[in-house]
Amino acid sequence: MNDLDRIAEIMTQCPVNQTQLDKPKHIYAWITKLNAQVSVEIGVFGGTSFIAAAVAMEKTGGIAYGIDPWMNAEAMQEGYPAVNATIPGMPFPVYYQKLNRVLKNNKLFNTRLIRAKSQETSELFDDGEIDFIHIDGNHGAAAVLQDAELYVPKVRKGGIIWFDDVLWDSVTPAVRHAMKSCKHVCRPSSNDVMLEKTC
Ligand SMILES: C[S@@+](CC[C@H](N)C(=O)[O-])C[C@H]1O[C@@H](n2cnc3c(N)ncnc32)[C@H](O)[C@@H]1O
Repeated sequence: MNDLDRIAEIMTQCPVNQTQLDKPKHIYAWITKLNAQVSVEIGVFGGTSFIAAAVAMEKTGGIAYGIDPWMNAEAMQEGYPAVNATIPGMPFPVYYQKLNRVLKNNKLFNTRLIRAKSQETSELFDDGEIDFIHIDGNHGAAAVLQDAELYVPKVRKGGIIWFDDVLWDSVTPAVRHAMKSCKHVCRPSSNDVMLEKTC
């Protein structure tokens, strides 16, 4: 089985059903292209994007870090009442447990899940240590801007910063902040942007 088929197969085991392969394919391709040793996903949820990083890290020998509190209260996003109304129906702690099991059952050992808010974990990484980061955690304007302020310095020159949900107004200030030290690479979809760190 090739790696993309393997990612698709493991995605079916993830706690939240998501079969769209475009984003996982891009993540896998970029992590392997960069020969990334450290990737970070802020906001892991059911893990379908994280699985792509985990499989890619088997190739590069690096570690895929996934940061998420997996707590309903923390998942509330300032300024998005309609999104927040769906949160109580999602068993975040169960997603965390199930994703751990999926990683173990598939021997995806080049992974670390960190159950915390991303705003409290940036010191785990040295400046310039991260090769690839996917910022897709709390989309409240203050939270995502803080993610950019804390984590962009942790990305090495030539590393990639992927912002999800850029069509959400609250994400714009964070992308603008990152652009001070990055150049635009591509839009993997209308709702995603990838930047390259330039200094
Ligand atoms: C849109 S989902 C992430 C989807 C995932 N990246 C994917 O591609 O499948 C947002 C996630 O962000 C998490 N989250 C909320 N606040 C957070 C914070 N302060 N730090 C890290 N993650 C957070 C939520 O628990 C939720 O799982």
